[in-house]
Amino acid sequence: MKKKSLVLLLALSMIFTFVLGACGGGSDESSSDSDTLKVVTEATFAPFESTQDGDETIVGFDPDMMAAIAEDQGLKLEWVNMEFDSLIPALQSDQGDIICAGMNKLAGDRAEKVDFGDTYFESELMLLVTADSDLAGIDAVTSDMKLASQIGTTGGDMVQEMKDEGKIADGVVLNQWTDCYLQLKNGEVQGVVVDKPVGEAYLKSHGDEAKFAGDPFGDHEEFAFAVQKGNTELLEKLNTGLANIKANGTYDELVDKWFS
Ligand code: ARG
Repeated sequence: MKKKSLVLLLALSMIFTFVLGACGGGSDESSSDSDTLKVVTEATFAPFESTQDGDETIVGFDPDMMAAIAEDQGLKLEWVNMEFDSLIPALQSDQGDIICAGMNKLAGDRAEKVDFGDTYFESELMLLVTADSDLAGIDAVTSDMKLASQIGTTGGDMVQEMKDEGKIADGVVLNQWTDCYLQLKNGEVQGVVVDKPVGEAYLKSHGDEAKFAGDPFGDHEEFAFAVQKGNTELLEKLNTGLANIKANGTYDELVDKWFS
């Protein structure tokens, strides 16, 4: 009889332990991790996001803007740097919570895959050429020329399309903007299709070796952060935070800091 009650007691204690674990009796470690939201970006896109030489810290308008939004809304963020065309798949596979990467919310089928927030910056595409180029603009590009841009971006899609239509000899789509600029500098391509504010930042430090050719082109772009499809609660927090930092002057201070 005694043995039976001992076995019963052991079984009951095992069941109780299992139930406790399943009800989130986990360690504090997991709960603190789940409080921190993962922001994914591609950090060769100064002044929106970039890394300093040798340092993995991501700096720029986007990290500053998101930090201000996070403070306003009581959110904790960590940033992860990855290739631009991995950003949307990262949210779709629950490897990230927010995209903040100067991403145009109007482009292609992006809005079918993630939920974009309110617009935080407006932009358009420009053609970057070497300082000695006599190329007049995107409409003057000839079929023997090569253009570079970043893979998965509106610029990258444009040069790919121009190649497919035989308008250029090659559309060189690369993972990092820094490599696109290098291709231009080394004479491998005759132009880089880049977002205007990013090209302007590049010309601030490379105005002696490069310039813009012609007027803006392509579709008007509206940059927005994005969350996983259906995460309306987080999106509302981010939109509210953006509205608040615009209302209290923080947004304008950051624009002055990064774009003046
Ligand atoms: N605005 C363009 C797009 O939405 C380029 C964005 C590139 N952003 C980056 N962090 N590399 O496709």
